[in-house]
Amino acid sequence: MTNITAAPTTRADYGGGQAAFYSNSNVVPLPLIEKAAGVHMWDDRGNRYVDVSSGPAVSNIGHGNTRVADAMTYQARQLEYAWAQVVQNRPNLDLSARLARLAGPGFERVSLTSGGSEAMENAIKLLRQYAIATKEPSRTKIISCLPSYHGATVSTLAISGDTRLEAFLNGFAEPSPKVPAPLSYRVPPEFDVSSYADFCADALEAKIVELGAENVLAFIIEPVGGLSTGCLVPPDKYFYRIRDICTRHGVRLVFDEILCGMGRTGKFLTAHHWPDALPDIITMAKGLASGYSPLGAVLAPADIVDQLAELSGFEFQYSYNANPVSCAAGLAVLDEYERLDLVNQAAVMGQALREGLEQLKSEFQIIGDIRGLGMLLAVELVSDRQTKAPMPIESAVAEKVRSHGLNNGLMIYARTTCHGIYGQWFLVSPPLTITQAEVGDLLERLAATLNDLANAR
Ligand SMILES: Cc1ncc(COP(=O)(O)O)c(C=O)c1O
Repeated sequence: MTNITAAPTTRADYGGGQAAFYSNSNVVPLPLIEKAAGVHMWDDRGNRYVDVSSGPAVSNIGHGNTRVADAMTYQARQLEYAWAQVVQNRPNLDLSARLARLAGPGFERVSLTSGGSEAMENAIKLLRQYAIATKEPSRTKIISCLPSYHGATVSTLAISGDTRLEAFLNGFAEPSPKVPAPLSYRVPPEFDVSSYADFCADALEAKIVELGAENVLAFIIEPVGGLSTGCLVPPDKYFYRIRDICTRHGVRLVFDEILCGMGRTGKFLTAHHWPDALPDIITMAKGLASGYSPLGAVLAPADIVDQLAELSGFEFQYSYNANPVSCAAGLAVLDEYERLDLVNQAAVMGQALREGLEQLKSEFQIIGDIRGLGMLLAVELVSDRQTKAPMPIESAVAEKVRSHGLNNGLMIYARTTCHGIYGQWFLVSPPLTITQAEVGDLLERLAATLNDLANAR
């Protein structure tokens, strides 16, 4: 066991890294990580940690992959930068073609960004510009779910469903209209999971009608949730209902696959689980370059993008769009996906991991629910399994599980949305390259972590 005890409390005179911006009340130690390989990370004291959540579900192909590093080095030596507004670059052409082929019909065009929030911004701006160009300028409203998370720019925070943001947004940016997320664990008493999903779909239609369909640009949803919902997987029928509702009202359906895409759920796109209810736009990031470079993508149909190109063209570019080194990283990551059969691995090893977590649930009363799809899983911690009562926010259980995890050699991602009113959980989403033996080690350390958590309460 690693015995990590305290976060640094003194502040550097200069710099201090990202951590200098975090709250002083943060009690979870932030180890100084110096190297990583596969599913493991090592700190400056030589302690080893299992990367339980792949950071925030980023490091899909694992750490220290020399094939990807070599491809990036080659590209940096060959052509490190080329402003995508005035020239084209080969890795950009290759990556967009490869992603579009993997995504399939309906997603022929790919716009590359430097991360998830930028991808969400571009998706929204693309649809807004298209609405203006096609003489539907009243379409300004974007409906999203409560709870949800779509990014950290001002406009993507306004779309995110987190009541903690109310004071921040008040008078500063207009929060988007919200509809309830089709939660599966703690549904209101008058419903079961299925009838609640219908209720949530009905709420979407009612919201569109209330706003006036001609004013609604898009409905945005994480098809499988991340930290905002603890890996919520809505029932199948929900996707067919929302597809139908959006189509009937001329509202674009956007899947935010920034966290759940790139094979995490056992299919290349999460949307591929419901092939007859495909969205109009998909955003991706995180696993796309698996942490080797900042990279995000908007997948869009040729008809929208090509028509917009005829009318006005998409006007908003970032300096780092389609950066050659980032694109080379993306291509090399896709090579690794193929070589190691990682989409299939996500399904197979995800199942093994899930079975192990279910076993832990039978041993630890504090575990209320295990949910997710493929290798994207969350463990919800409750104060009473019978009543499903969430852990009170003062219990700070999300932070405690991180601290105890560190002591047991686990790097865990846990965060609360909406002041924890929907519950507190942590992500179990290790690199898709994890082996059976490493799954066993992770579960053993998790059992020790939950034991420590129980003993400390
Ligand atoms: C579902 C979802 N959307 C958007 C984002 C924002 O992506 P990024 O942090 O790369 O800007 C995230 C990040 O956690 C996410 O989980």
